[in-house]
Amino acid sequence: MCTGTYWRNAWKYQNRTYRHFGWDNGTLLANLLAVATALGLPAKVVCGFVDATVNRLLDVDAQREVTFSWVAIGYDSSLPPPPPEEVSPLGFETVPLSRTEIDYPRMREMHDASSLHSPAEVAAWRGRTPLTKLPPPRGPVVQLRPLSDAEIPRDPIEQVILRRGSSRKFARTPITLVQLSTMLDRATHGIHADFLDPMGSLLNHLYLIVNAVEGVEPGAYVFHRDRRLIECLKPGNFRAQAGYLGLEQALPADAAVNIFFMADLRAILQRFGNRGYRAVQLEAGILGGKIYLGAYAQHLGATGLTFYDDDVVKFFPPHAEGKSAIFLVAVGNSAKSKTISG
Ligand SMILES: Cc1cc2nc3c(=O)[nH]c(=O)nc-3n(C[C@H](O)[C@H](O)[C@H](O)COP(=O)(O)O)c2cc1C
Repeated sequence: MCTGTYWRNAWKYQNRTYRHFGWDNGTLLANLLAVATALGLPAKVVCGFVDATVNRLLDVDAQREVTFSWVAIGYDSSLPPPPPEEVSPLGFETVPLSRTEIDYPRMREMHDASSLHSPAEVAAWRGRTPLTKLPPPRGPVVQLRPLSDAEIPRDPIEQVILRRGSSRKFARTPITLVQLSTMLDRATHGIHADFLDPMGSLLNHLYLIVNAVEGVEPGAYVFHRDRRLIECLKPGNFRAQAGYLGLEQALPADAAVNIFFMADLRAILQRFGNRGYRAVQLEAGILGGKIYLGAYAQHLGATGLTFYDDDVVKFFPPHAEGKSAIFLVAVGNSAKSKTISG
């Protein structure tokens, strides 16, 4: 079970921290799912549960820390043991993160508004993923050329996870189309999760600002997963715009490519209610985490980033109209840097 602690990010991102629950938890789950796959263990992400019961079981102070997801790992053909008659609180002591904390009540409101209260609500939550299709490509397309199973890097997953970090500075040097293709392809094969059915469905669509990929004209693109290609929405050098959209940071301006996760929240909330918001953030975090792994497996760098929501949507018109910006990962060749921006 994974929990999120509001203050861990709220000291910096205030109420916006609510999204980081999904992003950070997803980043962590990407690593965990990759290791489970390497060990041959089935693993399924569970986002639907009765919140209050689980928080009580873990004995977290739900004013400050809440359960966000579970992962069911492995299998056992025997029936589970009967539940104990009484569940006593864990009562673990925790070390305070700071001497004082600032409370941001809107995050708790958001969490309460997306909580499930009964097993019936949990049962209704599972599956029936709302699928939003992209219109067929109308602009110029670039066919992806991912590495085959025989060609992919052979480093063990543990090594890639240890190598992984968040790039603090990118060199303005290009990556190859094969590297980009491999990251996009491998990250989007599908996630076993209670809100994704059939397996392979996804809530997010991927939009790209290509700054420097060999053989690809710089510009704005959308990824057609089913066709394994990227479609050019507008050509151009958008390094300055990428820097602005990524909250005026140098990282997205210097990166070789910026991958934006966008989703049609209306369709998602219609099907899943408010809890759909948790699912879409978590899914983006997992996909982003897989892109991190795909980057570091190929000795590239990556970093998650925050962004100006509405301006991202406006940058990809009319294609992204009606969608919301969910998450951003920048990828490129890491450059050595002494500065830490956070
Ligand atoms: C979901 C996510 C969002 C992030 N957002 C930003 C950001 O907006 N700006 C930034 O400079 N770094 C950002 N980072 C990088 C973090 O500062 C960095 O990940 C953190 O220090 C943890 O280190 P690690 O990813 O190297 O393990 C983000 C990382 C993740 C995983």
